[in-house]
Amino acid sequence: MPLVDLKDVVKRYGTNTVLNGVSLSVEKGEIIAIIGRSGSGKSTMLRCVNGLEPIQGGTVAFDGTIVNDPGTDLRKLRQHVGIVFQSFNLFPHLSVEKNITLAPKVVKGMAPAEARRLAETVLRKVGLAEKIDAWPDQLSGGQQQRVAIARSLAMSPQLMLFDEITSALDPELVGEVLKTLEEMAREGMTMMLVTHEIGFARKVADRVVFMHHGKIWEEGPAAATLGAPRTPELETFLSAVLH
Ligand SMILES: Nc1ncnc2c1ncn2[C@@H]1O[C@H](COP(=O)(O)OP(=O)(O)OP(=O)(O)O)[C@@H](O)[C@H]1O
Ligand SMILES: [Mg+2]
Repeated sequence: MPLVDLKDVVKRYGTNTVLNGVSLSVEKGEIIAIIGRSGSGKSTMLRCVNGLEPIQGGTVAFDGTIVNDPGTDLRKLRQHVGIVFQSFNLFPHLSVEKNITLAPKVVKGMAPAEARRLAETVLRKVGLAEKIDAWPDQLSGGQQQRVAIARSLAMSPQLMLFDEITSALDPELVGEVLKTLEEMAREGMTMMLVTHEIGFARKVADRVVFMHHGKIWEEGPAAATLGAPRTPELETFLSAVLH
């Protein structure tokens, strides 16, 4: 059974059809890079996976649970699905430790000492062990994104969703965040990531999904799909982002 299974998903905002029959299966351990022009539906597709968007047609399943079933406990589901956005991920009024330990304490009832040890562990994974007592505004954008990733990891998710998490960063900070993602990939995390970093997608992703006008226009192994586009739309898109 795939971990994520989208079947004929249709999403509309009013009369605007944003996802027009999207089907995609993601196996455990797979890394899926989602690329495409602005407005093509990338973020919307990602948000459907953890039930942030009601859909008008099709089904979204996560680990066998139908996400768009009204009876599904979305809060419980989201404990298994981490999501990191482009910006504004951390609570500015909480220290790094408190940002990370909030959910484990509240949702899992974790004791403070154990939660602090967990924060230390996940911060080590993103290379920021020394920042446990810092405040978000004392960190660079790249460090903040790595803390946001650490915070998700603290819930031991089965799947991570990343929506252009390096797009708001200064170029010199992008590398450190991508390195963190690569490390997670090596450890076997299942990931769906929207990215404009084509080189990174080619290197790290198992599959690339190219969205165009609310559809999956092309999909396939990263090297083949990015190296030899089959449609003029992907070819045009790639030449625009690579130049
Ligand atoms: N809350 C909303 N209400 C109405 N329309 C929306 C809403 N969110 C997104 N849309 C529309 O849905 C379409 C797809 O948006 P989406 O954010 O998924 O695109 P995207 O591929 O992620 O683009 P970008 O690269 O700019 O982030 C766009 O036409 C957008 O205007
Ligand atoms: Mg988007």
